[in-house]
Amino acid sequence: TMTTEKPPLKVLLCAPRGFCAGVVRAIDVVEKALNLYGAPVYVRHEIVHNKYVVESLKRKGAIFVEELDEVPDETQAPVIFSAHGVAKTIPAEAERRNFQILDATCPLVTKVHREAEIHYKRGKEIILIGHAGHPEVVGTIGQLPDGAVKLVQTVEDVEAFVPDDPDKLAFVTQTTLSVEETSGIIDALKRRFPNITVPHKEDICYATTNRQEAVKQIAHECDAFITVGSPNSSNSQRLREVAEQRGCPVSRLVDGAHQIDWAEFEGIRTLGVSAGASAPEVLVEQIIDAFAERFTVEVETVAAIEENMFFPLPRPLRGAAA
Ligand code: F3S
Repeated sequence: TMTTEKPPLKVLLCAPRGFCAGVVRAIDVVEKALNLYGAPVYVRHEIVHNKYVVESLKRKGAIFVEELDEVPDETQAPVIFSAHGVAKTIPAEAERRNFQILDATCPLVTKVHREAEIHYKRGKEIILIGHAGHPEVVGTIGQLPDGAVKLVQTVEDVEAFVPDDPDKLAFVTQTTLSVEETSGIIDALKRRFPNITVPHKEDICYATTNRQEAVKQIAHECDAFITVGSPNSSNSQRLREVAEQRGCPVSRLVDGAHQIDWAEFEGIRTLGVSAGASAPEVLVEQIIDAFAERFTVEVETVAAIEENMFFPLPRPLRGAAA
C-alpha cells in the first residue's frame, strides 16, 4: 500500500481569542446558581451567543427562555439575565412576579446603559450605533422611554438622520462592532453634527477591539481563515469580516470542526484561526486536530495584546462554591 505524505500547514493562532471577561462571568453565574440553588435555573435568552456553551448548560439543568412569560409563576428558581443586557421592563416584570433575579449583564454593557441615561437626563437626543434586533441593542434602547434612543446602522443612516436639535445630540455604540466601520460612522456623525457629545472612552469593548486587532496582524499572511463562533455572535461575525477585509481569500465562521467544508481548504499553506468572545477554547483545539488529520500542522501563536480583565460575580453569588 502507498502512504501519502500530508501536506504542510502553518496555523497562525490569534491571541487574544475566545472568552472575554464578560462571558467568563456570565457562564460562571449560571454554573454557580446551579450549584447554589440546584436545577433548574431559568436563563432569559442564550446566556452568551454560543451553541456549545448553551447546550452544555442545558445538560446541567439550565432552562433557556426567550421571554419571562415562559417562566412558571410559582417557581422558586432564580431567573438569570444574559450577558447582552435587558430593557428596563424585564427586571420590572421579574420583580412584579417575585422572581429571584441574577443579572449576568456584562459590566461593559451596563456602562453604556448608564451613559445613555446620563445623556437623557441632560436633555440629549441619543443615537445608538448598532445592529437592529441584536439583544444588546434592544436592551440599550430599552433603558429609556420609547423614542429617546435612535438607532443608526450605517453612514447612509447618518446622512439621512434628522435630529430634533443638532446641538443636543449624543451617541453611544454597541460593544461588539467593527472598530473600522464604527469609526467611519462616528466620523460621519461628527462631520454632520460637530457639537455631538462623544463617549469618554470608546463603547466598543476591550475584548472586541483586541480580537479584531489580532486578526488584522495576520490576515494578510493567511490563505484561509477560520473564526470559531456561532452565527448569532456579533463579535465573531466581525472577526470573520475583518479577516476577509484584510485580504484573506477564504474566511469562514464555524461552530465546530463538523462545519468545515474541506474542499475550500485544499492546497492552503497558511491558516489563520481565531475565536469569538463567546467561543470556548475546546472548539479551537478540535478544529486544529481536524486540520492535523489532513495536514502536517505547525502551530504558531501570534500575540497582539495581553489581556488581564476580570469582573467579579453579582453579589448573591460571591463566595459561592465553584
Ligand atoms: Fe462584555 Fe465585551 Fe465580552 S461587552 S461580554 S467584554 S465581548
